[in-house]
Amino acid sequence: MKRNLIIVSACCIFSFTAISQKKSIDQKVDSVLKLMTLDEKIGQMNQYNGPWAATGPLTNDDKLLDQIKEGKVGSMLNTTGAKRTRELQDLAMQTRLKIPLLFGQDVIHGYRTIFPIPLAEAASWDMKLIEQSARVAATEAAAAGVHWTFAPMVDIARDPRWGRVMEGAGEDTYLGSLIAAARVKGFQGKGLGNTDAVMACAKHFAAYGAAVGGRDYNSVDMSLRQLNEVYLPPFKAAADAGVATFMNSFNDLNGIPATGNKYLQRDILKGKWKFKGFVVSDWGSVGEMINHGYAKDNYEAAMLAANAGSDMDMESRSYIQNLSKLVKDGKVKLTVIDEAVKRILRMKFVMGLFDDPYKFSNEEREKSQWNNAEHRKIEREMAKKSIVLLKNNPLPPVGGAGVGLLPLSKQTKTIALIGPFIKAVSDNLGFWSYDWPDDSSRITSTYDGIKSKLSADTKLLYAKGCNINDSVTTGFAEAVEVAKQADIVVIQVGEARDMTGEAKSRSNIHLPGVQEDLIKGVMATGKPVVVMINAGRPLIFNWTADNVPAILYTWWLGTEAGNAVADVLFGDYNPSGKLPMSFPLTEGQIPIYYNHYNTGRPAQNDNDRFYRSAYIDLSLYPKYAFGYGLSYTNFEYSDIKLSKSSFKPTEKLTATVTVKNTGNYDGEETVQLYIQDLFGSVVRPVKELKGFQKVFLKKGEVKEISFTITTEDLKFFNDKLEKIYEPGEFKLFIGGASNNVKEASFTLIK
Ligand code: BGC
Repeated sequence: MKRNLIIVSACCIFSFTAISQKKSIDQKVDSVLKLMTLDEKIGQMNQYNGPWAATGPLTNDDKLLDQIKEGKVGSMLNTTGAKRTRELQDLAMQTRLKIPLLFGQDVIHGYRTIFPIPLAEAASWDMKLIEQSARVAATEAAAAGVHWTFAPMVDIARDPRWGRVMEGAGEDTYLGSLIAAARVKGFQGKGLGNTDAVMACAKHFAAYGAAVGGRDYNSVDMSLRQLNEVYLPPFKAAADAGVATFMNSFNDLNGIPATGNKYLQRDILKGKWKFKGFVVSDWGSVGEMINHGYAKDNYEAAMLAANAGSDMDMESRSYIQNLSKLVKDGKVKLTVIDEAVKRILRMKFVMGLFDDPYKFSNEEREKSQWNNAEHRKIEREMAKKSIVLLKNNPLPPVGGAGVGLLPLSKQTKTIALIGPFIKAVSDNLGFWSYDWPDDSSRITSTYDGIKSKLSADTKLLYAKGCNINDSVTTGFAEAVEVAKQADIVVIQVGEARDMTGEAKSRSNIHLPGVQEDLIKGVMATGKPVVVMINAGRPLIFNWTADNVPAILYTWWLGTEAGNAVADVLFGDYNPSGKLPMSFPLTEGQIPIYYNHYNTGRPAQNDNDRFYRSAYIDLSLYPKYAFGYGLSYTNFEYSDIKLSKSSFKPTEKLTATVTVKNTGNYDGEETVQLYIQDLFGSVVRPVKELKGFQKVFLKKGEVKEISFTITTEDLKFFNDKLEKIYEPGEFKLFIGGASNNVKEASFTLIK
């Protein structure tokens, strides 16, 4: 028996090599599939977590390594490193058919070099750089044996209480779609099969970002129109960019868990969109359909998930334990299994793993990526561009009348650096990042970043002041003392790294602990104060926003965080970030997003008492609007010129503005185009982002910026879920923020 197996294996090696020379990938997949038993097929649909790290509740009760040797595992997650992946691949090579394992990992914003959290990167509106960031992450991860990243997360999120807003691109569908495509391109590089490219995974399919109340894992109930119009387009963009895989999600959608949802996985993804890759479940989400009350037991859960088009089971063991019986009982057709396995094998062929299962597990290449100076340079660039300047009021005599407090002069005599983030190291990385053994020396703190900018003539004073999230105020006195001795005070406050992320929803998103009290205490000294806020979501800090003259939103910026904030503080980089999410005035205002519908009684201002679809105790407006972000210079927009006032569907319309840099610094502006369809067969949003351009203008420079509008930009989903445009009247807006725009009107004629 044993001998026979060896012979079969030898044949297989021979046939795989022969296959790889002559046939198309689909033919190769079919040739392998023909050799497989039902159990071997089901093994390919099974993914386990390695015992070294976990990103979900672990079930470590099986003989994992034996199962790999028995061909019961198709993929592993949380298993990285050239050495370890090689060892496990060795086990897969002991199986009858020697089908290689796929190693998946959450490489969400960098691997060795940690980049800004995705929400921060989204604030750059810089597609090239976002693609480059994913490229670097892929290069580093692929060198450590990783084949597959569970990114990008492309969930639209309108609720900052939801902990996972940090992983996505914010509230806007258009921006989110461009970023989804850029990140897929970055991860997959010049093509899968190259040793610096990893398979990307668009997640979480779908509408996870709309979890009720922003509570993680919660239900989602929404119209199919809203689903198609707002939540699905970033997934479609990822599919169009060639994303290799999709991950379904924990939530139910209109009563059907996404993992068992045929409409999503079969009708839309594999049907309408003709997606050729495979779908992995989220961690345990097949089995969790029992908790949802949708499946009675794991047997039923496996049946529902497999039939709905979920190809691989991450960690719930429902497939490995039940699919064989389900096929025998006639509950899951063999064709369903075959289809799933073909999709998985196809990606293994595309990755070149049948030719060389070890091609990613190369220790030398891995080492060469461990502290890559070029990658750090790109990360610093990305980090600078992610920072958003929220406020920069003049403060005579420091900056001179009419000139903002920032940037600070490098000649400042004494600077007080205060707050729990000034010397923070790993808190700069944010959630979904790795603590490598040598990291504390690699990550730049704000303190070190600032110090390296200044000569010995500038004295730096430091006081922590308080912790991030407790009520201890004993450090205030020292902070105030230090502030009194300084010419300028820089305070850095925010959320700790583990306060946003998975299972990190918060009902209270004010600045945590006593940090705002610390700011108040320091402000009472009368010294000029700059506040920097580190966070993984929009926070609420109204006192600071109303009283502190200069505020930078610094998110979690990654390995080069300290250098990047120093670049911005001292004007070596003029901030250009624009908010990818609205910042609420208070939690009671959530959800608040710029592209809402009008009601029958839309208010025009805060005093419009009878026309008020808002609250009597709160302004209509967010604290900071989507698209908002200042620069050290000023940009003046001309009125909009349209090439015509009406156009036909076969024609194009051009909208032009001139933008002038009227301030004292060179700088980059993100010119944003919004459109409103005034009357539709279904209600349309008050405005929707439809384009933007980033322009660099030297001091005093003027540039003409044009946008071309076609019917593609005017399409929406009607009540029959058809994507259409309708002739009629439109408004068009161009400006530097969703709430700061010039306006024009046009008509689309039949
Ligand atoms: C998360 C996914 C992640 C997976 C594997 C789950 O808990 O929802 O986003 O990819 O774990 O770590």
